[in-house]
Amino acid sequence: MNKPADIRTQGWPAPECFGAEAYISRDYARAEADRLWPKVWQHACRLEEIPAVGDFVAYDIMDDTILIVRSGPDEISAFYNVCAHRGRRLADGCGSVQEFRCSYHAWKYNLKGECTRVLDSDDWQGRLSGDRLNLPRVQVDTWGGWVWINMDPDAGPLREYLEPAASLLDPFELDRMRYRWRLWCHFDCNWKVALEAFIEAYHVEGTHPQLMSVGDFTMWSRAKGLHGHNGFDERDPGKQTEEANTINRPGKGEDARLSIAALQRETWDTVNARTTWTLVDAALRLKDELPEGTPTPEVMAHWLKSAREQDAARGVVWPDVSPAHQAKAGSSWHVFPNMTIAHSITNALIYRVRPDRQEPERCIFEAAVIERFPEGGEPETEWEYADPSDVEKWRPVLLQDFDNMIQVQRGMRSRGYRGCIPSPKQEQTVANLHRNLARYVGRGGPEPL
Ligand code: FES
Ligand SMILES: [Fe+2]
Repeated sequence: MNKPADIRTQGWPAPECFGAEAYISRDYARAEADRLWPKVWQHACRLEEIPAVGDFVAYDIMDDTILIVRSGPDEISAFYNVCAHRGRRLADGCGSVQEFRCSYHAWKYNLKGECTRVLDSDDWQGRLSGDRLNLPRVQVDTWGGWVWINMDPDAGPLREYLEPAASLLDPFELDRMRYRWRLWCHFDCNWKVALEAFIEAYHVEGTHPQLMSVGDFTMWSRAKGLHGHNGFDERDPGKQTEEANTINRPGKGEDARLSIAALQRETWDTVNARTTWTLVDAALRLKDELPEGTPTPEVMAHWLKSAREQDAARGVVWPDVSPAHQAKAGSSWHVFPNMTIAHSITNALIYRVRPDRQEPERCIFEAAVIERFPEGGEPETEWEYADPSDVEKWRPVLLQDFDNMIQVQRGMRSRGYRGCIPSPKQEQTVANLHRNLARYVGRGGPEPL
């Protein structure tokens, strides 16, 4: 079915400009610490990181540290990770405990954050109430296989916060995916510089020129309330079918059997994300399974059918997501404020960037691939630090993205820089991030160019 040519003809928002303050100013970072981070839903970990009762993850964001704990078979608790006595941080990283014991004066807390032991409690002459001793709770909920927290007791429900991203992403069943790899590192740039490198595809020609020979990466971007997303846009209006805007792509070239294989192979080798080995394997077989001259839609259909069957045979069942829904959901999301989800039928690439606690021009960067595996066939992974120059771990395409970080941060400080002017069509996600951010922190945001 031909889709109305909205992508070609729809009016894009007017161009905007915003200053570099958000990237370099200590005041701005302070405003984020006071008015952004304590107010937004943030994913703290995946459920698979805390499968058993007593498993916990300590999630740190700016001045705060929060414990996310599997407090019962079907219960997750979240509370501040700070001893009620004299404020020692209770736990670090992740682990498994039966209770939390403060290493300073040996007070204890159960898995729900309730204080169970005060050494020599009579000293306080009966003035210690349970409420004063228990660790203050933080709002917690789950979506997409992640555990999300919000420090604001008055915050609205997670689901409401995530819409419309949640509803558009639900059919992809992200909750059924498990980590394939997960890495983190530090960058000497503001958290938004790092995040923004992954919420638009406009940079592909400039940053990843080698990819231009295997595919067309022109994408639209749209604001969706707090969040934003990107999707594919065929330049040829005649190709504007829903199928043409789906996530899995035919690549570039006359012979789709070869171009699909080339794009898949390149993606697997140089990104290690955005595809699965099943998809690559099925793509590599196309030239043997189909005659030369097979029309592109038929090659695409054959490729996806054979990958789907290959996966089904090993116990990986694809969810049914129609081409129309794929076109509507797009191919990647920015989830406000600091997460990206580049989703697909059986895999997703996730980024999260957090500010350094003290230094606005430094951040903590995390990337992970989640994928559908046969039950019991999930690989064992853990968060691994990988130096940003480590090409074996990060792969060449990500290193190319990393190359921009410090250079952008340096540029932001130059007195010759007159502010960001993102493309209204291809970088709307960036403008939208700053519009919403400005609202939260109470600062001036993007203005008409
Ligand atoms: S600070 Fe934790 S027991 Fe004293
Ligand atoms: Fe990139």
